[in-house]
Amino acid sequence: MCSPIDVSALSLGPLLHEGKAKKVYATGDPQLYAVEFKDTITASNGQFQTQLPGKGALNCQISAQLFTLLEQSGLSTHFRGLLGKGNRWMVVKPLRMIPLEVVLRNRAAGSLLRQLPMAAGQQLKPPLLDLYLKDDTMGDPFLSQARLAILNIITADEHIQLAAMAREANSTLHQALNRVDMDLVDLKLEFGWDSSGKLHLADELSPDNCRLWDQGQNSDSPERILDKDRFRQGLGGLVHAYKEVNQRIQGLGFQPQHYGSMVTL
Ligand code: ADP
Ligand code: TMP
Repeated sequence: MCSPIDVSALSLGPLLHEGKAKKVYATGDPQLYAVEFKDTITASNGQFQTQLPGKGALNCQISAQLFTLLEQSGLSTHFRGLLGKGNRWMVVKPLRMIPLEVVLRNRAAGSLLRQLPMAAGQQLKPPLLDLYLKDDTMGDPFLSQARLAILNIITADEHIQLAAMAREANSTLHQALNRVDMDLVDLKLEFGWDSSGKLHLADELSPDNCRLWDQGQNSDSPERILDKDRFRQGLGGLVHAYKEVNQRIQGLGFQPQHYGSMVTL
């Protein structure tokens, strides 16, 4: 059961950021942002883009359930609740975002196969953690530990904290998705600090930002791909695949907090 929160005072403020996949708005409550998930899908850092009706709502619903799962397992996330209107809005805690893309790899896929002589799908135990600078103009460059130190984005202690949280999130999600016959191949996480200096997992947790393989399909079948690779590889059927992901995750039984219809949008 979703438990409505009294948010009668919450109203939509100015648009703060429009990115490739989401719009971030201030609200009447300085402790809350509203995030709208768009139907736009992009690849190659925005070079290719199209509209896929329904994609934004599915990513919002999937993310809300996975954030709820992680919160219930004790991890701090920015997720505060879904918003009543149109299934594509969520309420989050405003954070000072760390400009890093934290990629966890449970199997070899994607860019790793272009950069290292590895077999597609090869298991990585422990999972490989790769850091990239979040900067579209530079193509999100890979960061070594030494490069990270030069940039002065986070301290060595903060790096340790962030890596531990990322590994915990990956491990919890990997196990949960396994229960509904999906293999979490890799995923990209983003983190930010709240006003008291606490680290939170932020952004989204959706098939736009991870690779998910259907364990019920043959390893050489394109039908096993349930994520954005369907778009990258021109396979079609992306919204259908995301619906399948959402349906299976609903089977895990994590009900996100829900802001009621009192919200003025
Ligand atoms: P991008 O900006 O990379 O194209 P999006 O379209 O997903 O990505 O835009 C969402 C933006 O909001 C991203 O820049 C992301 O880092 C940022 N963001 C995510 N969660 C929060 C948060 N809780 N507080 C502030 N910013 C956030
Ligand atoms: P990669 O194979 O391109 O390195 O991507 C690894 C994972 O990270 C994959 O699930 C896609 C995700 N990812 C993003 O969500 N955003 C990005 O900008 C990049 C580079 C990867």
